[in-house]
Amino acid sequence: MAILRVPDRDIQLTNPGEISRFLHARGIRYEHRPVGALLNGESDTAVLQASDSWLKPFMEQNGYRTADVIRVTPATPNLPAIREKFLREHTHSEDEVRFFVEGDGLFWFHKDTPEEEVFAVQCSAGDLLTVPADTKHWFDLGPDPHVCAIRIFTDQAGWVPHYTHSGVEQRYR
Ligand SMILES: [Fe+2]
Repeated sequence: MAILRVPDRDIQLTNPGEISRFLHARGIRYEHRPVGALLNGESDTAVLQASDSWLKPFMEQNGYRTADVIRVTPATPNLPAIREKFLREHTHSEDEVRFFVEGDGLFWFHKDTPEEEVFAVQCSAGDLLTVPADTKHWFDLGPDPHVCAIRIFTDQAGWVPHYTHSGVEQRYR
């Protein structure tokens, strides 16, 4: 289950309904779905197939066209560079959608309106989170990464980071 923190206001939410309402009010979609018998040891195809009953309609309803599976562990090659790339504040021209199958990761959001606000959502198994296009965010794999997640795309080629160079993320390291 996700945990939402607003460090500057000393807020922490653990109730999925409250987290969903907080994020929905800021244009961010969050849902929790049971992962059932999904395990990291299964093949990418098996992970996608096991999620097919909700994944297909979800993609059709939202205009997403492709999905794949990403896994990061301490054994992943080039890990420090990968972690650093995600840790810098950026936007994408399309939604970034993740469904966490196993492990966890921390999504940070930086909103400017109506006032500046930074909050983090720690996602774990069963959490489905959509970072809307053009939303400033960064992602922390943690010092000891362990995550398996389904990535859902409108157009995988369009999912490139546009770095903001604001340095805001440095305040929250
Ligand atoms: Fe991103």
